[in-house]
Amino acid sequence: MAKVAIMGYGTVGSGVYDIIKTNADKLSYSANGEKVELKYILDIRDFEDHPEKELFTKDFNDILNDGEVSVVAEVMGGLHPAYEFTKSLLESGKSVVTSNKELVATYGTELLEIAREKNVNYFFEASVGGGIPVIRPMHQCLTANNIEKIAGILNGTTNYILNQMIKSGKTFETALKDAQDKGFAERNPAADIEGHDACRKIAILASLASGKMIDYNDIDTEGITNITLDDVKYASAMDSAVKLIGYADFGKDGKIYSIVAPMIIKNESPLSGVDGVFNAVMVTGDCVGNVMFYGKGAGKLPTASAVVADVVDAVKHKERSKKIFWEKPDGNVMADKDSKRFAYFIRTTDSAEKVQKIFDKCEFVDNIVDNESAFVTQPMTKTEAENKLSELSDVVTNIRIMD
Ligand code: HSE
Repeated sequence: MAKVAIMGYGTVGSGVYDIIKTNADKLSYSANGEKVELKYILDIRDFEDHPEKELFTKDFNDILNDGEVSVVAEVMGGLHPAYEFTKSLLESGKSVVTSNKELVATYGTELLEIAREKNVNYFFEASVGGGIPVIRPMHQCLTANNIEKIAGILNGTTNYILNQMIKSGKTFETALKDAQDKGFAERNPAADIEGHDACRKIAILASLASGKMIDYNDIDTEGITNITLDDVKYASAMDSAVKLIGYADFGKDGKIYSIVAPMIIKNESPLSGVDGVFNAVMVTGDCVGNVMFYGKGAGKLPTASAVVADVVDAVKHKERSKKIFWEKPDGNVMADKDSKRFAYFIRTTDSAEKVQKIFDKCEFVDNIVDNESAFVTQPMTKTEAENKLSELSDVVTNIRIMD
């Protein structure tokens, strides 16, 4: 019998509870016959009407000091006190599994090291891509490869918003409200729409792929707040779609170029058809080529599915650390922001003649909005793009085109 605890009874925590209860037999079968029993749920709120209200505690020490509890699911989110709780649990010899991408991206190096020292596990499958298996496949099945590139739709909320704008003609605000109601959005949805959530996720994937800790603060991050319905219509007319992309390119020199930004993706790419709350991660390995992971990236049961899978894996590997880790690099591993060239889709009220003079070889796109020039540039660095854009009288839109 494995006794487990849940910390945080929000959207994901209640999903973890539901799965442990409804799929008990399946979990026991998967855990080599060991029954997975829930002993505590930690939450500061009252749940007087809950059918198992006796499981609830407001005191973290109940879990920490209970020698029977071997695995804890941290699904409370945020950095504090999740960091302090996780650290204490790992140090006391309990395994912890989490969906908390902010915590993994910020303190993952230290927490993974503690887990390794204590011979327990810190698993975080649900931290990237919700219910999509991507952390384990990258760590295990793709381990023979040098990873060359990762490009992913890593945030369900923004993907849902962009999709609702084009398919249902909803405004940005209405689509965001829908995403919040469905439990996809972060407590502070700015983390979704400004790209920070996707940034933490690409930092985790890039750290895993390279074995070096990628600090998410070093990743150039743009959200979707400037994307308008007209931009989405232009993309559609160009047989493409606008998606918020987490991107990492691993150079042969060991340097990593990474960015989070809205990008225009040709419909021929499998990423362009990834709609709604679905996420997809395209990984390019030097042996395997392109591999794509696809599924629901947010929401109660999809995310809880990955958390509970980690619980079972931790139960199966009690007292045996699975050695998932990355290290702090000696020097700077991030490539210069100008080491990568993208073509840009630009809209301006300047004339085509002026545009042509500044951008030289560019391709004009049929107008959807009157009295503006819309065009695609040649591939250029960020600095080159900034310099040329500063010569225009105004820039209605500039969006990278994914290679
Ligand atoms: N807010 C996140 C998203 C939840 O929309 O993808 C899953 O990490």
